[in-house]
Amino acid sequence: MLTIYQARDYNELSRKAANIISAQVIMKPNAILGMATGSTPVGAYQQLIEWYQKGDLDFSKIRCVNLDEYKGLSGEHKQSYRYFMNRNLFEHINISLPNTNIPNGLAPDSEAECSRYNNAIQTLGGIDLQVLGIGGNGHIGFNEPDTDFKKETHLVALTEETRTANARFFSTVDEVPTHAYTMGIKNIMSAKRILLLATGSSKAQALYDSLYGPITPHVPASILQLHNDVIVVADDKALDMIEKKGFLK
Ligand code: PGA
Repeated sequence: MLTIYQARDYNELSRKAANIISAQVIMKPNAILGMATGSTPVGAYQQLIEWYQKGDLDFSKIRCVNLDEYKGLSGEHKQSYRYFMNRNLFEHINISLPNTNIPNGLAPDSEAECSRYNNAIQTLGGIDLQVLGIGGNGHIGFNEPDTDFKKETHLVALTEETRTANARFFSTVDEVPTHAYTMGIKNIMSAKRILLLATGSSKAQALYDSLYGPITPHVPASILQLHNDVIVVADDKALDMIEKKGFLK
């Protein structure tokens, strides 16, 4: 089932997304949360931190698995996703760091790292709620267009589009790593519930194509149409095309 929650702006999107995540934490205190990096979920994470500080949330038994990590960056590198998660969420709540899982960008053997990560997800018992952003090209995690839907965690070569989009966080585009580890579509689709977040007009086409276009590896997020529990929280700008096509009631 697909549920779309419309938000006026980024603040409202963040509050709604945080509500869905915190409901999961409250209903199942030992839940497995699939986390995402990128700009989109930052506001939701800030809201979760605020509610935690007020005493409303307890993350002590929560386990997290992140979608992806750049290959070649250590967890201390400011652009690594481990660093991002620690700074934007984990350091501010009472989650135990050993309960947080992110691929190791410095693992010497990429294949072994992918199997280790798949096993870690399986050992945890699967993901209860997977948070996703979406790329302007419809990617989820680093599953870029023309990805194989059957893949689990794997190493990907980043497209120039994605490297350019992410260059804003580095001094130059050349510093953006060329490869990344990502959970595969198969891992993502195995999550019990998916929370897809999208903000801004640059996501409008990808969001429309993903939710209402043909299901095709060319638009990786279109596979979500086959998942039975997808919640989309998006702002007016990201929903613009869906609204114009008459799909928002
Ligand atoms: P963003 O990235 O949240 O920074 O827009 C989303 C993504 O590329 O998956």
